[in-house]
Amino acid sequence: MSTELKKALFNISALADLGQAITSENAFHEKIQSVFYVITGTFLANRGAILSYDKSAKKLNTLLQKGFDSADLDRVQPDELMSLGKNEPCLIGTDPVLAVSGAEILVPLWVRDEFIGALLLSGKLTVGPYTLEDLELLNVIANQIAIALNNHSLFMDLAEKLEENRRLYEEMRHIYHGTLQAFAAAIDAKDAYTQNHSHRVAKYSAAIARELGWSEHDVEGIYVAGYLHDVGKLAISNDLLNKVTPFTPEERAEIRKHSTTSHNITSKIKFPWKSVEDMVWHHHERLDGRGYPDKLANESLSDGVRILSLADSFDAMTSQRPYRKKMDVPAAIAELKKCLESQFDNKIMLVFCKVLDKEIKGELPEPDILPHLDKTSDLSVISALLGGIIVELSTPKSGV
Ligand SMILES: [Fe+2]
Ligand SMILES: [Fe+2]
Repeated sequence: MSTELKKALFNISALADLGQAITSENAFHEKIQSVFYVITGTFLANRGAILSYDKSAKKLNTLLQKGFDSADLDRVQPDELMSLGKNEPCLIGTDPVLAVSGAEILVPLWVRDEFIGALLLSGKLTVGPYTLEDLELLNVIANQIAIALNNHSLFMDLAEKLEENRRLYEEMRHIYHGTLQAFAAAIDAKDAYTQNHSHRVAKYSAAIARELGWSEHDVEGIYVAGYLHDVGKLAISNDLLNKVTPFTPEERAEIRKHSTTSHNITSKIKFPWKSVEDMVWHHHERLDGRGYPDKLANESLSDGVRILSLADSFDAMTSQRPYRKKMDVPAAIAELKKCLESQFDNKIMLVFCKVLDKEIKGELPEPDILPHLDKTSDLSVISALLGGIIVELSTPKSGV
C-alpha cells in the first residue's frame, strides 16, 4: 500500500474522529481505541502501545496496548524518551536502553514543548524493515495523537477543577446553612414558647413553594427567609417576648417593629436569592391591608410573602404561646380557611393543603410539615378535612 493511500485511509477513519471535541472520559477512550486499531492495522504490527505521561507523578502509564509484556512497558523511562526527537519515529534496533520495551519502533509524543507520552509498535507482519515512508506517516500520526492526548489531559484537569469547585461550593453552602441555623436558634431561644419556630416556618414555606413549582434555587431562598423572618425579635427584650399577660398597645407596637428590624438586618446581607428581605419584611401583612408594617394589600403581596405569612401563622397557631394554648391541627387548618381572602391567599392555601395531604398519604419521600405536627393528631381526620378544602378551592365559584 502506498504511503499516500495509507495517509488517506488514516486521515479519514481515525483523525477525523480524534479531532472532535472530547466531551467525556468515555468518548475519549472510544476514540483513542479506534485510532489505535487503525495504526496497528495500517502498519500490520501485531504489537502496539500508547503510553501517556503523568506530569505530576513523572511516570508513564499504559493507556492502550496489545501484544506487549506489561512488565517490559513499565521499564520504559520517560527521561530516555524526552531526549529523542519530538514526534520523530525512532528505530530501536539494538539500543540497550530503549530495547527494554520490546518495541521495534518508538515515537515520543510532544505538543510544542510538552512531553505527552509515546507510541510503540512491534511484530511487523510483512517482510522487510519499516520504510522511510512508514516513518514519515508515523510522524504525522504521532502529531495527531499527541494533540488528542494533550486535549484529553486538559479536559481532565478542567473536569477535576470543576469537581473541586463544586465540592467547595457545597462546603460553603453547608457552612452557610449552619450559620443560618445557629442564627435561628438564637432567635428562637429568646422566646421559650417558640422553640424551633423559625426552623418549622422555613420547612413549611419551602414545602409549599416546591409544590407550587418554584425552582430549587427559589425554594432555597424562601427557606432562608423562613429562617430569618423573625430575626428582628433579637432587638426585643426577653421580658416582653415572654410576657404572660396581654400586651398593652405600646408593647404590641414594640413587638410589631420586629418585621421592619428583620428587613433592616437582612437587607445588609447580599443574598444569592432575590426577595429574601422583602419576604421577611412583609410576613405580617394581610390581603385586606390590615396587616403591618406597611398595610400592603392584594397585588402588593408577592407569592413569597403569602407563603411565608401562611406558614408563620399555621406554626404560631399550632404552638403553645404564653398567652394562649396551642390549637390542634384540624382547628388550625379550619382557622386558616376562615381567614381566606382577608388574610391568606386561596391559591397558597390550596397548595398547602395538597402538600400536607400528600405527606400524610406517604406520597412524598421527605415530608417537611408532617414530622413537626402534634403526634397525637388523627391523620385520617386531617386528610378528610384537607380533601374537602382541596375540592372546594379547586372548584370555580359559580357566577365567576
Ligand atoms: Fe413575625
Ligand atoms: Fe414568626
